[in-house]
Amino acid sequence: MGEAKGHVLFFPYPLQGHINPMIQLGKRLSKKGLTVSLIIASNIHREPYTSEDYSITVHTIHDGFFPHEHPHAKIKDPPRFNESTARSLTNFISRQKLSGNPPKALIYDPFMPFALDVAKDLGLYVVAYFTQPWLASLIYYHINEGTYDVPDDRHEDPILASFPGFPLLSQNDLPSFACEKGSYPLIFKVVVSQFSNLRRADCILCNTFDQLEPKVVKWMDGQWPVKNIGPVVPSKFLDNRLPEDKDYELGDSKTEPDESVLSWLANKPAKSVVYVAFGTLVALSEKQMKETAMAIKQTGYSFLWSARDSERSKLPSGFVEEAMEKDIGLVAKWVPQLEVLAHDSIGCFVTHCGWNSTLEALCLGVPLVGMPQWTDQPTNAKFIEDVWKIGVRVKTDEEGFVSKEEITRCVVEVMEGEKGKVMRKNVENLKVLAREAISEGGSSDKKIDEFVAMMT
Ligand code: UDX
Repeated sequence: MGEAKGHVLFFPYPLQGHINPMIQLGKRLSKKGLTVSLIIASNIHREPYTSEDYSITVHTIHDGFFPHEHPHAKIKDPPRFNESTARSLTNFISRQKLSGNPPKALIYDPFMPFALDVAKDLGLYVVAYFTQPWLASLIYYHINEGTYDVPDDRHEDPILASFPGFPLLSQNDLPSFACEKGSYPLIFKVVVSQFSNLRRADCILCNTFDQLEPKVVKWMDGQWPVKNIGPVVPSKFLDNRLPEDKDYELGDSKTEPDESVLSWLANKPAKSVVYVAFGTLVALSEKQMKETAMAIKQTGYSFLWSARDSERSKLPSGFVEEAMEKDIGLVAKWVPQLEVLAHDSIGCFVTHCGWNSTLEALCLGVPLVGMPQWTDQPTNAKFIEDVWKIGVRVKTDEEGFVSKEEITRCVVEVMEGEKGKVMRKNVENLKVLAREAISEGGSSDKKIDEFVAMMT
């Protein structure tokens, strides 16, 4: 570990998909000499915890909710969350400023624009860190600017949306909050408000890399002080410069993945297994879950399916048992996804196209079958299919339902079709570019170095 240079605060939006990219950048900054405090807004107080491998201390601050309330209650009540958390953040930073190593900067998730105002008022250098790609965030920017009007009804008037640096997007390709007025009004406000005060940010980071979104990067160049610093996937799966960085944990493991899936995969031939996982939040309807299960079985390929308890209960009765008995598939609660994607036996990844899963697949060279559900996922899927050409996206009916024939068609196409071969080649090329970006002297590594120099 290098000599301590400066102290920076990280303030992620408290959902796993947003916290992980913050932890990962924190690890890289800590190995480059900075001291990191990770602030988690929570309804449950935990004593501060310092990682053994990194100079990172995790603190909790109160988010205004009672301990018995569901951790996701905050998503449904942003005003309560924002008001209480802003107060807690002010107190926390004020106390830290009196410490022996006062912080120089706050790196915050723009889902919480109030954090920028708090930190500016307290005299910190303020950094907005987007953990979703530009391809989604810039659409929210245009809504905030009034340069894109969200239509009243997604079916009524299928306007094609044209944004600088983007391919033409149909309504279906837009982030779910941007394709129909009034859908998820609270979250709509959160995503659009990211840009409400962004002009005041001293620096803007994003978990992407220049070569992945070159057109939008070019468009932004000169407008904003942007540094793309990704992909911040654990180092073991990329540049391997941080040998202890094997997962998203800080040594205080909260999630115990089912490692036994790796020995199951070990007996499978190369590129023969379909991996299915829909991230940490998505809940498919029972009908869709059953249809997906029938499709996966019908393909005849071996499969590994990561399904949280709430999702597993929607699978057809006897499905899990039959798959195990015949040794054609395994359903696990939580798998070590990075190890799985890195495994030679995996032939494709059926995914909801969450940004972390997308980056992980791309870094490990696994082609995708996209079944996007909401938020940035449809836009990620559009880029996966039509821009990077590293996968296919399933076609839905009017109600958003995907038939088993369609899922089967897509899986077979990626696993053994001619187009699948091209996708595999394309994803291998992106894997190389991703590694280059984060390796020593790569575009993202240089941006991280520039940032560290500013904090020294
Ligand atoms: C949320 C949103 O849904 C997504 O659209 C946005 O881009 C980020 O925030 P989430 O649903 O959590 O994301 O999906 P994703 O971003 O793909 O992250 C899931 C993470 O869980 C990945 O890092 C993946 O490796 C991990 N995971 C998932 C496991 O480690 N094991 C599992 O079994 C399943």
